[in-house]
Amino acid sequence: MTKKITFLGIETSCDETAASVIRENDKGTADILSNIVSSQISEHKKFGGVVPELAARAHLENIDYIIKAALNESKVSLKEIDGIAATAGPGLIVCLTVGLNIGKSIAAFLNKPFVAVNHLEGHALSPGLENYIKFPYLLLLISGGHSQFLIVKDVNQYEQLGTTIDDALGEAFDKTAKMLDLGYPGGPSVEKASKMGDKNFFKLPEPIINKAGCNLSFAGLKTAVLRESKKINGNEKLKFSLAASFQNTINKILYKKTKIAIEMFKKKINTSNVNLVVAGGVAANISIRDNLKKLSKEIGFTTIYPNLEFCGDNAAMIAWAGIQRFKKNLLNKIDVEAKSRWPLDENAPYMKGPGLKL
Ligand SMILES: Nc1ncnc2c1ncn2[C@@H]1O[C@H](COP(=O)(O)OP(=O)(O)OP(=O)(O)O)[C@@H](O)[C@H]1O
Ligand SMILES: [Mg+2]
Repeated sequence: MTKKITFLGIETSCDETAASVIRENDKGTADILSNIVSSQISEHKKFGGVVPELAARAHLENIDYIIKAALNESKVSLKEIDGIAATAGPGLIVCLTVGLNIGKSIAAFLNKPFVAVNHLEGHALSPGLENYIKFPYLLLLISGGHSQFLIVKDVNQYEQLGTTIDDALGEAFDKTAKMLDLGYPGGPSVEKASKMGDKNFFKLPEPIINKAGCNLSFAGLKTAVLRESKKINGNEKLKFSLAASFQNTINKILYKKTKIAIEMFKKKINTSNVNLVVAGGVAANISIRDNLKKLSKEIGFTTIYPNLEFCGDNAAMIAWAGIQRFKKNLLNKIDVEAKSRWPLDENAPYMKGPGLKL
């Protein structure tokens, strides 16, 4: 029997301080021995968004305790761990540095392998924690900072098919929640409010819906929500209907753009068999899941979602990406530094800013 690899993962890229111990199993997935996530929601709530300095301070205060808790719960000693993985980007440098430095220190002290993980690769591979998925697959990554269609060819091999040219989808949810005074964090509160409104009440724009392939755009939609929100005047019913209309418009955009991405994937890979993995914080949205399941039945592909606990930021997905990279000998030296920007497909064109041609 081959030895099963066990990793400690550490995540501090934004407003979650997280540590996890996982071990490979015979099914080609992972046994989650511990998965501790300390969210800073209460700290950032009054500001309606993440305040970098506050986030970094909270990471510093919590990280030792969270790592100890993850080790205790896993019943695995540091000696038994085969390697340490910590998120090194993209994200807020002041936050990333906390988890990265402690990860590097533990690895150096114990003389164990260290992996600097791209947070987006963590999301991209996260469904593998529970489902064995063969490469290549199509990834729709929808999170607080990113919205992209990518071909996941293998660990460390990504081809971007489309991306947002302005806001990320999670950001659009968060800003909509703020404009409608629905509370923080925005995504879940918009989802909840949507259930009480009429999704067809407001007619909202679907930016670049008929052009630019599977690239996405949400800024015009956000501006339209702002315009309509000024007409609400405290009417709760209208407020819920605006949230519902926003979510319905998102669903229409994702339906059309995913259809295009599926066709692109089929052509590039020369296959009719498509597995669509939807990952990142916004993948927790049930209405978006149901909408894409409907599309999958209509045009014939398989949808795979991570369990809800692995959609938002967590360290199990970082440990899992660490194990996959370790197995390919993609290790990092102890002088590796945090990166605020770190695209999965380094060759993809930069799709933001003035002068962009669609
Ligand atoms: N049920 C939901 N519906 C819609 N959006 C949601 C839901 N739950 C969470 N979100 C959104 O997911 C985002 C957080 O996801 P995640 O933690 O992956 O983002 P991030 O780590 O900040 O960004 P990135 O992964 O791009 O670096 C937030 O914008 C949040 O509002
Ligand atoms: Mg994330």
